[in-house]
Amino acid sequence: MNSCARTPILEHVLLAEPTAFAVGAAENPHMQKEDGSLHEVDSDRAREQWESLRAAYLDLKMEVAVLPAEPDLLDLVFTANPSLVLPLPDGSREAWLARMTYASRHGEVPIHEAFLRQEDIPIRTMPDIVQQWEGCGDGILHPGRHRLHAGLGPRTQTKGWEILAQAHPELEIKTYALQDPRFYHLDTALAPLDEETALYFPGAFDTAGLRQIHAAFPSAIEVSDNEAMLFACNAHCPDGKHVLIESACQQTCEALQAAKFQPIPLDTSEFRKAGGSVFCMKLAY
Ligand code: ARG
Repeated sequence: MNSCARTPILEHVLLAEPTAFAVGAAENPHMQKEDGSLHEVDSDRAREQWESLRAAYLDLKMEVAVLPAEPDLLDLVFTANPSLVLPLPDGSREAWLARMTYASRHGEVPIHEAFLRQEDIPIRTMPDIVQQWEGCGDGILHPGRHRLHAGLGPRTQTKGWEILAQAHPELEIKTYALQDPRFYHLDTALAPLDEETALYFPGAFDTAGLRQIHAAFPSAIEVSDNEAMLFACNAHCPDGKHVLIESACQQTCEALQAAKFQPIPLDTSEFRKAGGSVFCMKLAY
């Protein structure tokens, strides 16, 4: 299966200050309480949780950049969505700017663009016919390989993947039709850990999707419905060993240990109120 070209692992992460983070509208099923009202964010707790995430990356000796908060951009903290940085087999990188579904998030894209330009990463934009394509939320790199796991669902349409395939005919793109509205981005249901291993929640996929996961990740680790809802599959493994993961996902942490990974449990409960956890809160570049 792993016959496609090698690509470098991205060693930098971009985070965004959580000062303006809030739940402003029901953009996904996680943002509402059972009675239909919106969750309220505790800003102090959110700040503490975000600081722990930043500290965890620094402990792993990763380069961490931080975008300043913008008062009107409540979701800016979810840096996985407004762009995707694609490492290429020749060792270079390029950044693709997203087409965000909600108008409330459109303003995040130029902020990513300015940051990525300043990093000297070449910028690519989707043509206007692509109306929805949400970056790393639905575009997940296969560690070390020129392969992308690509979600199709409420936030990303097939057209964006066709554009990427035209730009990079040698890039392997595996698409997954998402089946369950609670798992609205592919990164809520699939987390690659190393070339052979990923965390995944079976209920988010159809038979074809599950077949692809097992072919691409022979040692895939299944996550329960309960822990998938706590965002176990929104974990991030930056180095093939350490796994930054929501601390409420105890069973998954045990499964990771049994598979010789080192879980780094982090409380992201304030961010889960907006439908995101660790993977959503960083852009790898
Ligand atoms: N409230 C945000 C939204 O619905 C959360 C984004 C989470 N990001 C992710 N990559 N799943 O757009």
